[in-house]
Amino acid sequence: MEEKIVGKTKHGEITIDQLAQIQPGMARLMDEISRRFYYLYYAAKGGNWPMAKHQYNETIAIMNIVKITRPKYAQDMETYEKHHLSPLLEAIEKKDWKGFEASYKKAVEGSDYYHDKYDYSFIRFVLPSKPPEHMYLGSPEKFSRKK
Ligand code: HEM
Repeated sequence: MEEKIVGKTKHGEITIDQLAQIQPGMARLMDEISRRFYYLYYAAKGGNWPMAKHQYNETIAIMNIVKITRPKYAQDMETYEKHHLSPLLEAIEKKDWKGFEASYKKAVEGSDYYHDKYDYSFIRFVLPSKPPEHMYLGSPEKFSRKK
């Protein structure tokens, strides 16, 4: 009899196929991407450029997961990264806020294009009006923890 490969936990057994099926799909990954993309904006605006780079890298890392779990979007992800995200990285490297802001606007418009393409015209990323409050997003040298 063929033996199924299973992982065993204290709750029971799970097959490799089941493990594959429960990997995050597009909606879950997009939710994460939109958060990283939001943090990215305010990190750059606050002048925390290493944080902006970190958020940028995390955005790309999630997009790379999309390419594995939802390969039908892989080519468009690649194109989006090349045309809309890499200008953000260039601006981060140069600590160029004005350039960053202009490229960010275009990247948001780019997301509208792809949401339209896949029949999700009702999905529109909107930049929150305030920075996230649980992370310091100013210049790293100026941080001091209140005693
Ligand atoms: C930084 C750029 C992007 C942002 C901020 C963004 C944001 C979002 C958000 C907020 C959602 C709704 C998630 C939810 O259900 O809660 C979403 C869904 C979606 N996005 Fe994006 N998106 C971006 C780029 C893209 C690109 C480049 C593509 C195509 C390659 C894409 C394709 C989709 C699709 C197909 C869905 C629907 C997923 C589903 O419900 O199955 N998005 N996106």
